[in-house]
Amino acid sequence: MSYSLQVAGRSRIVVGPALAELPQLLPAGRIEMLTDRNVLHLHPELFAGRHPLVIEPGEENKRLQSVETVCRELIRRGADRSTFLLGIGGGIVTDITGFVASIYMRGIPFGYISTTLLGNVDASVGGKNGVDLDGYKNMIGVFAQPQFVICDTSLFSTLPVREVRAGLAEAVKSGIIGDEELFALIERTGFEGLRHTAAAMDEVVVRSVRLKAAIVSRDEREQGERRKLNLGHTFAHAIEKCSREMNHGEAVAVGLVMAARLARRLGLLPSAAEDRIAGLIEALGFTTQPPVPTAELFDAMTKDKKSEGDTIHLVLPTAVGDCVIRTVSFTELAPLLRSL
Ligand SMILES: NC(=O)c1ccc[n+]([C@@H]2O[C@H](COP(=O)([O-])OP(=O)(O)OC[C@H]3O[C@@H](n4cnc5c(N)ncnc54)[C@H](O)[C@@H]3O)[C@@H](O)[C@H]2O)c1
Ligand SMILES: [Zn+2]
Repeated sequence: MSYSLQVAGRSRIVVGPALAELPQLLPAGRIEMLTDRNVLHLHPELFAGRHPLVIEPGEENKRLQSVETVCRELIRRGADRSTFLLGIGGGIVTDITGFVASIYMRGIPFGYISTTLLGNVDASVGGKNGVDLDGYKNMIGVFAQPQFVICDTSLFSTLPVREVRAGLAEAVKSGIIGDEELFALIERTGFEGLRHTAAAMDEVVVRSVRLKAAIVSRDEREQGERRKLNLGHTFAHAIEKCSREMNHGEAVAVGLVMAARLARRLGLLPSAAEDRIAGLIEALGFTTQPPVPTAELFDAMTKDKKSEGDTIHLVLPTAVGDCVIRTVSFTELAPLLRSL
């Protein structure tokens, strides 16, 4: 059985054996597909004899040059404003698809088949699309909702173990932000259990999407509550800027532990809850320490786009299943970070 959820009243997310619903979701008329080379190679069945536009995989390709290349190819193929752009891939493909579709001829309709766990639980949901610039993540982008997102967990059968683990970090994040039952489900099922139990994996995706959909529907443009979805990300983006050792999900895992440590230092989070968060991150097989000294992370954080002047919005857990947003000055933050 598949589950259907709505984001902001106009974007439909289908989770479960959702690929079967693609024919009903796709509009009549011209469709162009965008994917990356790995997905094209591993899942030729998704392209049904069509010739998709293909980008090279890797975060280093999530940049304006790829956007230009895709737009040029759309022009060459004669795509017009009625063309529907279907992104088939992980977060990099869906971020580029949403951005290209939003600016090509001032906007064409689009949707996604999300093929990674990280994409299912986070990147494909919520309508933030964009690319990196000069090492700064997601600096150039727009808010635009896809018409639909298909989250079919059967596609994870080809996903490298490292990518499954990375996606789980975002699901743990959702649990800490606002769904203790999701956190507990991941705790009791464990990494191997989740990888091999479709029903449990579907539940992780549904719960993560439900939490994100609810928050985004209340605050689509990130004026307030949506910032909670950045839990762990201020640290994660700094880690990604300073080192190539970790992928996004791995950096988020460390970021979650750092946010929990900081919240406990500030007296916001009981130490038992901090231990529970660090314990789950470790049990899932993540490293809990940043790959570079915190002083380097601090430098990168002062340049984070989420900072406003000399302050930064930090999301801090107050329990497993609850968090607050605190505006902190860099002067306050520097000694706190040194003590982590
Ligand atoms: N827009 C948002 O709100 C949002 C939220 C979270 C993350 N993101 C972005 O998402 C990106 C990370 O997403 P990701 O982890 O999906 O990365 P990704 O798109 O790079 O996919 C990870 C790797 O898995 C491969 N792959 C994809 N599907 C596969 C499958 N089914 N089987 C085998 N291999 C497959 C890809 O080719 C790639 O090598 C980052 O750029 C991050 O900034 C965006
Ligand atoms: Zn993320």
